[in-house]
Amino acid sequence: MLLIDGKKVAAELRQRVKNDVDALVRQHGRPPHLAVILVGEDPASQIYVRYKEKACEEVGFVSRIWRLDGGITQCALEKLITELSSSEDIDGILLQLPLPKGLDAQRCLALVDPKKDVDGFHPENVGRLSIGLPCLKPCTPYGVIKLLEYYGLSPAGKRAVVIGRSNIVGKPMAMLLSAASPFGNATVTVCHSRTPDLAAVVREADFIVPAIGKPKLITRDMVKPGAVIVDVGMNRLPDGKLCGDVDYDNLTDVASAMTPVPGGVGPMTIATLMSNTVEAYRWRRQ
Ligand code: GUN
Repeated sequence: MLLIDGKKVAAELRQRVKNDVDALVRQHGRPPHLAVILVGEDPASQIYVRYKEKACEEVGFVSRIWRLDGGITQCALEKLITELSSSEDIDGILLQLPLPKGLDAQRCLALVDPKKDVDGFHPENVGRLSIGLPCLKPCTPYGVIKLLEYYGLSPAGKRAVVIGRSNIVGKPMAMLLSAASPFGNATVTVCHSRTPDLAAVVREADFIVPAIGKPKLITRDMVKPGAVIVDVGMNRLPDGKLCGDVDYDNLTDVASAMTPVPGGVGPMTIATLMSNTVEAYRWRRQ
């Protein structure tokens, strides 16, 4: 089995971004500037944001983290996003999700300038992705495509199953895998919590992308021999260990290629955020 090493591929991508930043500084006089907004105390979000901050520093971006009290009003949050959107010296804006109860994420995301929308969550970018126009693409699913590309694992003409229909991963993942573009062109099925006989659907798949947050949901009996598995799940077990949505240890002699958790998709999400920010910086200067 081929181990899909997200840690290694992400490190190479970050190095490429770092080289791009050096060139952009020479050309335009300043590095890309990413603004990250974190509202409230969600423990997982705090960890993700710390990783993002560290990655920005490593590649030479300017970053500012807005750590806001969970009790902030919708109005005050919208005002900040509007200001960041119109600020000349900010290239990328990321609103960490989920927001605390009582705040409307969709209304906030719609206020992000689509050209600074490094998460690809603005309705304009979602729409552009769905009709095949150039756009900023959501970091996790785009990171999955980059992994497939790196290892030459083309899903073209193959059956892919995405498990999960979230706006952040499942839906854009299905769009990218089915797009008429390199490392797309798959026949895609989207499964979710209301799919009957998930096992029968997964068994048909040449590419399996679970993104549902259920530890070891995908077991040996559900996987066609030779399938490629890219595990987006990230679950904390009672003993504190991290595990994906796939029963990894019992699949190493069934899958032809598989990502580990941790060290698979996670590092790619952050590296792709870095490359999206460079893309946003360039687009604003075109
Ligand atoms: N929460 C979980 N994943 C993500 C992500 O990719 N971007 C943002 N903004 N929030 C998230």
